[in-house]
Amino acid sequence: MAAGKGTRLKSKYPKVLHEVGGKPLLAHVITAATAVVPAADVYAIIGHEADLVRKAVEHTGINFVIQAEQRGTGHALMVAQEALAPYDLVLVLSGDAPLITPETVRRLRDFHLQKKAAMTLLSAELANPTGYGRVLRKGAKSDDVKAIVEEKAASASQKKLREINSGFYAFAVKPLYTQIGKLTTDNAHHEYYLTDMAAVFTKATAKVVVLRTARPAEILGSNTRAEMMEIDAIFRMEKCRQLMAAGASIFFPQTCVIDADVEVGPDTVIEPFVQLLGRTRIGGDCRIRSYSVIANSEIGERVTVRPGSILDDARVGAGAVIGPYSHLRPGSDIGEGAHVGSFVETKKVKLGQGSKAPHLTYLGDAEIGAGVNVGAGTITCNYDGAHKHKTEIGDNVFVGSDSTLVAPVKIGKGAYIGAASCITENVPEDSLALGRSRQVTKEGWAKAKREARSAAKG
Ligand code: UD1
Ligand code: CA
Repeated sequence: MAAGKGTRLKSKYPKVLHEVGGKPLLAHVITAATAVVPAADVYAIIGHEADLVRKAVEHTGINFVIQAEQRGTGHALMVAQEALAPYDLVLVLSGDAPLITPETVRRLRDFHLQKKAAMTLLSAELANPTGYGRVLRKGAKSDDVKAIVEEKAASASQKKLREINSGFYAFAVKPLYTQIGKLTTDNAHHEYYLTDMAAVFTKATAKVVVLRTARPAEILGSNTRAEMMEIDAIFRMEKCRQLMAAGASIFFPQTCVIDADVEVGPDTVIEPFVQLLGRTRIGGDCRIRSYSVIANSEIGERVTVRPGSILDDARVGAGAVIGPYSHLRPGSDIGEGAHVGSFVETKKVKLGQGSKAPHLTYLGDAEIGAGVNVGAGTITCNYDGAHKHKTEIGDNVFVGSDSTLVAPVKIGKGAYIGAASCITENVPEDSLALGRSRQVTKEGWAKAKREARSAAKG
């Protein structure tokens, strides 16, 4: 169920596209669902901003059911009737409860089948049950359920019940659709509540049972931004635990932001206040120092990323050193043992093995060989105001400090560029290129100037 607006978030974006752990709420739920059944048997019920929601998750290969008007969770299942007709059993998951695991979904299914129930709901015992529907069992020790009562309709004594309805259910499809017409909108929100199916079935003497999960954190729903951040924190701490279990060290993990799909090799150390985002993969024996933000990048073994570096869609070879304060933009491909230093920005650049650009440099649209030294303040002038052009630098070139390389331009292997040169023409292999005006020195000029000034003052 993913059709709701998420009014309590006060957002222009649909609730299920808000992110925790670096992925939309709904994407997490789909991951759990598709671990249990094939994507072809998963249906997302969408409605509010349906096109946006569909676009965000359609790559998963699941199906969609449109609930054009969102008239409640019961109504969501009403509109899914045709899609579900070929099935005997439906597992209903809440699109806003992203911590659910495949194991729990499987347990819910197995319990439902074993009990031969018409409806099985997953419950959890929460220290603070406020806001959730409460489960009314037929007896304290009984699995059988009488009804679910929503927070707003609960009496004072019902509000004290700490066993809540998780919003995850299993239904036998046929009985669901013979009885679903009995739902009414006679409640605080004037909606069709799926939760009322418990009372509807009980009245029809069909079996409704409850399975209580031992891991209540799994079912937390995100109705408010504060709840979402609590879930995000749980999610990220769990991710850190997994990475640590696999051999990475993470100092002060509560300060790090690591997305779900990130991989980190053994003996790599992540310092405080690091963000590893998207599909980032980091090899073993690396050190990722504080305040670095690395997105969708691939980093080899034994790499050091010094503090304050930003990497976006970049590749870094084994043993390289990045930073402090480097900015590797998309298409940066830094070779083994290379060094990109402070205040260096790279974009669509191949920097060869062992090459160095240690200070204050911009390298864009360039192919740079191995063993190259790029002096401080070097700029590849890749843009002529209309088009981007390429700079090619051969192996073992020495580029003197403060050089501007006006692309398109090629510098042959082993050449030297004198400091402060503006290079506009190709430079052949093994030559020296100087593109600056010759120095003029006027001896005694400064002294004469000073003396003339003090004479004028009298
Ligand atoms: C629901 C349950 C409540 C339970 C809680 C657990 C009902 C009436 N109440 O409340 O007992 O404790 O979940 O988290 O079901 N949705 C649709 N179409 C709609 C309305 C909602 O697809 O017309 C989707 C929402 O996008 C959301 C999910 O259903 O993903 C749950 O809806 P929500 O409004 O969050 O229900 P709760 O108030 O949390
Ligand atoms: Ca909810």
